[in-house]
Amino acid sequence: MTKFDQRYGSEIFFYGTEPNTFLAAFVDRLPAGGTVLSLGEGEGRNAVYLAERGFRVHALDESAVGLAKAHRLATTRGVSMTTECVDLAHYAFAPARWDAIISIWCHLPSQLRTRVHADVVRSLRPGGVYLLEAYTPAQIGRGTGGPSDPDFMPTAGMLAAELTGLNPLHVLETEREVSEGSGHRGHSAVVQWIGLRAEGAL
Ligand SMILES: C[S@@+](CC[C@H](N)C(=O)[O-])C[C@H]1O[C@@H](n2cnc3c(N)ncnc32)[C@H](O)[C@@H]1O
Repeated sequence: MTKFDQRYGSEIFFYGTEPNTFLAAFVDRLPAGGTVLSLGEGEGRNAVYLAERGFRVHALDESAVGLAKAHRLATTRGVSMTTECVDLAHYAFAPARWDAIISIWCHLPSQLRTRVHADVVRSLRPGGVYLLEAYTPAQIGRGTGGPSDPDFMPTAGMLAAELTGLNPLHVLETEREVSEGSGHRGHSAVVQWIGLRAEGAL
């Protein structure tokens, strides 16, 4: 049982059922109707939101409890998605497979994140888009959400180095109010990143 299996164990959705507001604000940057791979999808709020907008979503998470709730949420909202219970450390990213990949608060240790980001670049189709929001190390000690170990939290500079194969479309390290269930609530230090895999990148 993972830490998140325990967190997701009650009927209540720990991060709520509404989408991440950064994703919702920039959803029109994702290729309309395309295939989306969601990293660390959790209880399904972002995947369901995208499915409702015509995207075909494949959601990854190592929490079976979270993904079971994701399917329940999808059923309630009359949409569907596919899911895979997997540790990203062992996931085989298919080359040039996805129109978009999203990572919303999917904090990984820096070594794994760097490896996953190299796979993300290769796994996007030319014209594909990567969208990420994460807490930065400046979030440490605020008590409003996110990991307690700064190694799990990227800065914009780290992301630029890890995602050199993408053309950045939106890069912002900022502070904002986050209100997502009981899990993420309050003034927070975040980084937002959207990048495009250039046409002809293969
Ligand atoms: C903070 S939660 C965010 C969930 C969801 N993205 C959201 O915004 O509601 C982080 C999620 O990443 C997942 N996760 C963390 N490390 C993972 C790994 N190595 N492999 C797969 N999933 C992972 C956790 O199980 C958890 O569901």
